[in-house]
Amino acid sequence: MVMGMLKCLVLAGCGMWCVTAIAADQSANIPDVYLSSALSKQPDETRGQKLYQQHCLQCHQVGAVGLPSENIPALAGQQYEYLVKQVVDFLDQERTHVVMHQQLMQSGLNNATSIADVVGYVANLPSSAISQQGSGTQLAQGKLIYEGFCASCHGRLAEGNADWWVPNLRGQHYGYLLEQMRRMARAQRANVSDDLHRMFTSYADTEFEAVADYLARWSMK
Ligand code: HEC
Ligand code: HEC
Repeated sequence: MVMGMLKCLVLAGCGMWCVTAIAADQSANIPDVYLSSALSKQPDETRGQKLYQQHCLQCHQVGAVGLPSENIPALAGQQYEYLVKQVVDFLDQERTHVVMHQQLMQSGLNNATSIADVVGYVANLPSSAISQQGSGTQLAQGKLIYEGFCASCHGRLAEGNADWWVPNLRGQHYGYLLEQMRRMARAQRANVSDDLHRMFTSYADTEFEAVADYLARWSMK
């Protein structure tokens, strides 16, 4: 996606060339333009709710609270900008996940208006009060890691940061958080920056468990 934008910027002075570059991406179903376009729209949450019930509910559940047994994340209360970016990243396969990619392509949600509507609906739902937790044995270590190395981006209250696409980590499920940290360490989430990937490689799995458990209990605080 970044490449597409760069291409566009480089060619921006050439009028038609820029249009051609975007058109080429669209023809490959790689919707670079959806991100800025979806973010500029005013979401229609009523339509978003219908789309959600039709295409997302079966997995992300009533109230978008997720399904921990299948490592399906909660979406309720997540940062709007972050969610829009993830949906676009799934569509253009910068974030690799076969199921999510297929769901989005098949449901006809690969357009900016539908993305804005469905994400607008889930982002405004109250975040899950109870999330799946870990063993509870390493919470002090989790707190130390979070405050020392994560809070600078994710926020003192783990609320995320809309300006930098940083997700809210509160109310998210233990198993999902753990799995995503492992994937970022293994460079299996290609939409994550090299710096973030390097940072995650410096942790032991027990440290991931500690910080995931600490975060999963946040909504209880
Ligand atoms: C068949 C099950 C299934 C359906 C249907 C589904 N999802 Fe997902 N979704 C998943 C799974 C599994 C993940 C976790 C992906 C991963 O591990 O990277 C996920 C992850 C996500 C994420 C990333 C959340 C985060 O915190 O990064 C978003 C956003 C999302 N889904 C939105 C949607 C939307 C919108 C719909 C409806 C159009 C939808 N999903 C339909 C299974 C599904
Ligand atoms: C330099 C800023 C930065 C720091 C430091 C940072 N993160 Fe993140 N984190 C991000 C961004 C940006 C994303 C979203 C990446 C993307 O677009 O997929 C993210 C994504 C995540 C996700 C995936 C959430 C989801 O819903 O899928 C988890 C889990 C996470 N970070 C945990 C942590 C933990 C734990 C630490 C500390 C050990 C940490 N992060 C440190 C910026 C940061």
